[in-house]
Amino acid sequence: MEWFQKWDKVLDDSDAPFYKWFVGGKTNIVHNAIDRHLKTHRKNKLALIWVGEPGDSRTFSYFALNREVSKFANVLKSMGVKKGDIVTIYLPRLPEQMIAMLACAKIGAAHSVVYGGFSVEALAERIEDAQSRVLVTADGGWLRGKIIALKDIADEAMARQPTVETCIVVKRTGQDIYMEAGRDYWYEDLMSLPIAGPICETEPTDAEDMLFILYTSGTTGRPKGVIHTHGGYMVFTYTTLKYVFDVKDEDRWWCAADPGWITGHSYIVYAPLINGVTSFMYEGAPTHPYPNRWWQMIENHGITILYTAPTAIRGLMRFGDSWPNRHNLGSLRLLGTVGEPINPEAWKWYYTVIGQERCPIMDTWWQTETGGFMITPLPITPLKPGSATRPFFGIDVDVVDDESQPVPTGEEGYLVVKTPWPGMLRAVYKDPDRYREQYWDKFKTMYQTGDSARKDEDGYVWVIGRMDDVIKVSGYRLGTAEVESALVSHPDVSEAAAIGLPHELKGNAIHAYVILRAGVEGDENLAETLRDHVGHEMGPIAKPETITVVDTLPKTRSGKIMRRLLKARALGLPEGDVSTLEE
Ligand code: WTA
Repeated sequence: MEWFQKWDKVLDDSDAPFYKWFVGGKTNIVHNAIDRHLKTHRKNKLALIWVGEPGDSRTFSYFALNREVSKFANVLKSMGVKKGDIVTIYLPRLPEQMIAMLACAKIGAAHSVVYGGFSVEALAERIEDAQSRVLVTADGGWLRGKIIALKDIADEAMARQPTVETCIVVKRTGQDIYMEAGRDYWYEDLMSLPIAGPICETEPTDAEDMLFILYTSGTTGRPKGVIHTHGGYMVFTYTTLKYVFDVKDEDRWWCAADPGWITGHSYIVYAPLINGVTSFMYEGAPTHPYPNRWWQMIENHGITILYTAPTAIRGLMRFGDSWPNRHNLGSLRLLGTVGEPINPEAWKWYYTVIGQERCPIMDTWWQTETGGFMITPLPITPLKPGSATRPFFGIDVDVVDDESQPVPTGEEGYLVVKTPWPGMLRAVYKDPDRYREQYWDKFKTMYQTGDSARKDEDGYVWVIGRMDDVIKVSGYRLGTAEVESALVSHPDVSEAAAIGLPHELKGNAIHAYVILRAGVEGDENLAETLRDHVGHEMGPIAKPETITVVDTLPKTRSGKIMRRLLKARALGLPEGDVSTLEE
């Protein structure tokens, strides 16, 4: 990696827990993701192979990616976007998603990517928190042969959130959409104007300048904007991908996540480009039009490393071995998984049927907040299915009890990180108190992950799951609070509680309990109406599996809903300590 100016200090912990890394250093992550390669043999190497769900495809060499990013950076500049601004990006899995992110970073502005599967209120509150003046979206995206009409959702969100002055719309699906004069512009039109010149200097940034915020669910309230910066995040994502997946020049790397989540930020966009590999990206559903879609693309494009989530593996596994067996998967040399603990059946299928017992599985444990892999094997590490094995270089994790003391081997406790690392979040956007409370109040000098885990006699870490009100649904991170606030925003609902319960395919599924407003009679369609309402406000992934109408919810005397109790009752487990339950 190249720096415009070397740092004076690697770690500044004088204002802990607000740690700073590579203080005094000047760089720009885009310089290392693109510019640096243009001086080498990689200039004409493919940076991105993209395949659309309908079967169309586009490729970009590093040279071409640089041209597109530079052009769009100039477009953003012409709209007054500058350092300190946050551009909201709400796109399907398209090359433009990557281009828009890199264009922001190139001019020193920050991006806030909102997952294309989120809906009106989720988008509106993120735009509001970031005070974005520019929104980048698309007319729609393809999923399971249908159009997801993103611009319609964006229009509704913009009506709730008037901060957006300019909305840039990528044409993808081509149906008629509403375009507001003076606010909405087609991406393609802007990119053909003289303002979109192909040359744009990369803005030098301080190591600690904000690269992006990414909203993620926490214990209470609204999603929080996790901040990552140019220097530390660049070093950490580059290093983790390089060593954990041993990436080489000839690799074709496929991270099957969405750039709208941290996995995509780090391992579709930044780390693969900084490492100079060829990334593969696919727009649509794994089973469209048939359950062999992924395996066919691996064969067609000679994918060498596949990195995905247990839920996707389980989803494909249920169609049987004959779909993958029909394809030559011999190009694969490594596999990876992330997002939730992987169950032994899924691990075994992934290892034997997909990897043909040739490809070690890198089970990577990490979080939006950590920026990159924290607990993970390397290709040479002896594996134990279901364990992310041991910490990455320089990462110091432990499993502790309420008094911050390490728990005995084999016992469950809180998973913590004992020392800072370069890829760590720097703060919660506009909310330093929340940063302290959420991550540092409980264990003071140790970072609280929110997960529970145990360590075995070999020091291998077995992550069990979230201990807080975060639910991982199909690997997606959601908060009970967001689902509940979507429910109570419906006029028929006065109170709501959401919990996660185990689900065969999704890992966890959301189940909700609602108290209706006085006078409202729930009919048999009510649950469906409320589910649709949550889908419309938050997104389809947040739709509860079941909605039960109740008269009361178990609460503590201070009025907090005891979700733990709801969960225990739903699972028929002991109710535990109920001394704080109100009469
Ligand atoms: C869970 C995703 C077990 C964990 C990168 C964590 C995992 C949360 C694993 C973060 C894994 C992630 N094994 N659990 N390999 N990877 N998790 O922020 O509960 O979307 O706290 O980041 O996912 O989710 P996030």
